[in-house]
Amino acid sequence: MEIKTYRIINVMIIIFVMTFVACTKEDAEILDNYGNVADPASLSAGTSTVFETGMTAYDTPAKWVTNELVTRFYRGDALYDRPRTSGEDPLIGGKGPLYAGSSCGSCHTNAGRTLPTLFSQGGTGAGGFSAQLVYITKKDGSFFRNYGRVLHDQSIYGVVPEGKLRASYTEETFRFPDGEEYSLMTPHYEIVEWYADNIKPEDLIIDVRIPLRHVGLGQMMALDLDELQEVARRSNYPEYGISGRLNTIPERNITFIGITGNKAQHADLTIELGFSSDLGVTNDRYPLEISEGQSQMLGYSHYGIQISTKDMEHVDFYLHALGVPARRNVNDPTVKRGEENFYRAKCDLCHTPTLHTRQDAPTLINGTRLPWLSRQTIHPYSDFLLHDMGVELDSHYSSGLAMGCEWRTTPLWGIGLQSRVNQHTHFLHDGRARNITEAIMWHGREGAVSRDIFKQMSREDRDALIKFVESL
Ligand code: HEC
Ligand code: HEC
Repeated sequence: MEIKTYRIINVMIIIFVMTFVACTKEDAEILDNYGNVADPASLSAGTSTVFETGMTAYDTPAKWVTNELVTRFYRGDALYDRPRTSGEDPLIGGKGPLYAGSSCGSCHTNAGRTLPTLFSQGGTGAGGFSAQLVYITKKDGSFFRNYGRVLHDQSIYGVVPEGKLRASYTEETFRFPDGEEYSLMTPHYEIVEWYADNIKPEDLIIDVRIPLRHVGLGQMMALDLDELQEVARRSNYPEYGISGRLNTIPERNITFIGITGNKAQHADLTIELGFSSDLGVTNDRYPLEISEGQSQMLGYSHYGIQISTKDMEHVDFYLHALGVPARRNVNDPTVKRGEENFYRAKCDLCHTPTLHTRQDAPTLINGTRLPWLSRQTIHPYSDFLLHDMGVELDSHYSSGLAMGCEWRTTPLWGIGLQSRVNQHTHFLHDGRARNITEAIMWHGREGAVSRDIFKQMSREDRDALIKFVESL
């Protein structure tokens, strides 16, 4: 009996040592595309880090996607990217009657952030797709019966779109203390061509969002939630006016922690909601068309399930399995100086450099588990908490606990490659910032101390800080 126990312990020690050695070996041996051992500082997501720097930087599978997982990845990719029709094809059908984009990829081109027509054509609807979401509510936060949560500005033949967004901007120029100029563009929105009730501007709240980059979604779903709660407890820095909090989502008698979306208003990757609300493709979780109950839809009613749970899981897998681009130029002296400035300006108090994924594997919609995402050190540069960003960024639209002025700290990993992937540098929830400097100068309230420290820096220090952000 005693000997047996002793043996078991011995075996356990050996296994433990072997795992430890295997882990450290693995960490030390992540190779870049040229077969060189990657600098640990460049590994944004451990073994899911990829070394692409071009248009596919956000759209490359992690190295652990092998064998049958490759087939699943590309099936998910196709379901995500192929433009849909209103027909019944399981791969590309089911679109409408109302929708906001023709495929997931029409708004998230190359798994990134398509430039909305808002900026190229003065609002949506002028040909092509808007590549944005327009959330609308009444002033008291309730929804309009004939419209729902999102304004659907596209429709299939014979149906009238719900309305069209019009945007205009006022631009103001400012100076840094050293004389360098910058200007900020304030958006003004209105909705025209309402299909039903003519809603008065004074009854209406409009919150416009541009898409988010799909960087690190799998890691976000694998986050160690105890660590996140600890980050939320620690996020209280009265000396800098910063205190973040988690968003929570009560659903099916459980309270989930919100992670995704600009207001951390979702606990998952919104696959089912995306198909239902953005594309008009019904599924098990949302079996009714998004337009169900609207006056113009009385003749339509229910179309049946237009995408299977199995296929939605392929999309879920695709998004979880996307690699996170490695950092570039980590040893460049200017980037190093910029990194110091990032901490000097207290950016790290919200854009948390390092978090971890949990022990157990995240589970997809249809039950597949992904052990490859567990137990990784990751560098999202976000605390995933809500922060009051002041009147500067207040949309007056609330979502769960998040008030109009509260936004989830946007993860910065991969941000420096957005210009390669999507050929533009519009930032913030509604894309009003045209570069990183403008994004920082829009930070209000909890972000004001950071903004002001950045503002007071010398031009070289500001430029270095931006070079650091671009290295992420
Ligand atoms: C009409 C444009 C549009 C379409 C079509 C669209 N999205 Fe999005 N997506 C957005 C916008 C805008 C956001 C940011 C919304 C917010 O703030 O919550 C977003 C956010 C997301 C997020 C959260 C990302 C994060 O980092 O927090 C996921 C995941 C996502 N979309 C997946 C999908 C999937 C899957 C589809 C297809 C079924 C899809 N989207 C279709 C515009 C779109
Ligand atoms: C109080 C928390 C907080 C601090 C401090 C902070 N940020 Fe942010 N940051 C946010 C939030 C929240 C957003 C999202 C705001 C929005 O989209 O309207 C954001 C957005 C950004 C974006 C835009 C990202 C994108 O892809 O749209 C950049 C760039 C950025 N921050 C950089 C910085 C830098 C650099 C600093 C330090 C000078 C800093 N932030 C300090 C909370 C913070």
